[in-house]
Amino acid sequence: MKRITNTLKATVAVFALGTGMAVAEDVEVLHWWTSGGEAAALNVLKQDLEAQGIGWQDMPVAGGGGEQAMTVLRARVTAGDAPTAVQALGFDILDWGAQGALANLNDLAAQEGWDEVVPEALQAFAKYDGKWISAPVNVHSTNWVWANKAVLDANGIAIPTNWDEFVSAVETLAAAGVTPIAHGGQAWQDATVFDAVAMGAGGPDFYKAAFIDLDEAALGSDTMKEAFDRMAFIRAHVDENFSGRDWNLATAMVINGEAGFQMMGDWAKGEFLNAGKVPGEDFLCFRFPGTQDQVTFNADQFMMFDQGGSVSAEQAALASAILSPSFQIAFNKVKGSVPARTDVAGDELDACGQQGMADLASAASSGNLFGSMAHGHAAPASVKNAIYDVVTAHFNGEYDSETAVAELVDAVSIAK
Ligand code: BGC
Repeated sequence: MKRITNTLKATVAVFALGTGMAVAEDVEVLHWWTSGGEAAALNVLKQDLEAQGIGWQDMPVAGGGGEQAMTVLRARVTAGDAPTAVQALGFDILDWGAQGALANLNDLAAQEGWDEVVPEALQAFAKYDGKWISAPVNVHSTNWVWANKAVLDANGIAIPTNWDEFVSAVETLAAAGVTPIAHGGQAWQDATVFDAVAMGAGGPDFYKAAFIDLDEAALGSDTMKEAFDRMAFIRAHVDENFSGRDWNLATAMVINGEAGFQMMGDWAKGEFLNAGKVPGEDFLCFRFPGTQDQVTFNADQFMMFDQGGSVSAEQAALASAILSPSFQIAFNKVKGSVPARTDVAGDELDACGQQGMADLASAASSGNLFGSMAHGHAAPASVKNAIYDVVTAHFNGEYDSETAVAELVDAVSIAK
């Protein structure tokens, strides 16, 4: 069947060449959306393109946060075989832009008015040197907690609003024999938790100074030590099999009532929805205690690799589909994120999605919207990876908090 399709395509292509007509090629899309919820969201995009007659060649690279995907991408580009479109985050996009590897989407962006509808915070990572180089799909944020409502109710636990209340909720669950915190011990997951914990311990000025400005005094401060102490408390309240666990399996522990809480970005909501769970009834979403007024965001985007010339028709169709208001709603409803456009209404989103949109708008207007360190929106990959190493070594008990602070200062100063 595939052979027949290829032969047909080749025939159409020859005909098209003869007549000077453009023909739709497949798009090859490299991404790391491999969990149940992520795959369901990806399907929305696939179907959108297929409806336009554009075939989809899937190139999934498992691994939350996309580190493995970025490694595969580098190998492909080095081999002169870049995929058509690639999921990417923040500073990685700017890095490929600086290398001149990405197609210029300015014509399409101008035609569709992206400048007017994509929030500034996203444009900062979607444009390089005045050129649009990627198509923003969504806005996720990392400072969320996901909870099993029945487990909390059964233990008389209300949503904690500050660190002390969180500590007592965790201790109540531990005393009841329930795993308080579902976690997967992978560097990017440890760092995702650290985003929220550091913000909660030091507030927005501290978060910005440490992770965005890479200020040595903030990195080496007592507040940073407090953040590491809080990480140690969290480490003491995960189950013994946490090491190496994938994030979606940790989410499943909350879904199944094996654990009370998971600290994770709002892609976790995609797993709850995919399991047929309802926000407010089966599960609760709330900002990490003490970070209610802040948002640490990351935005998935698709970079279009320059295939030797101008943007191809398929790349333009993909980018245009991604930015279309109807797709933005349909996709983000399933993915757990919120739209990357400011002009779409959120009333079709569930309660967590609506809160996500409202939080994003209010954090942006009060100056409390910051790029996620863990997801490549605070500092370039070299610095991010240096922070990952220290956070993970501390989480796994290799460093006490004081040593972790000293290591962090050193690691960042070497990496930046
Ligand atoms: C991406 C999400 C993805 C998550 C887990 C994040 O970096 O932005 O889209 O669901 O990683 O894989």
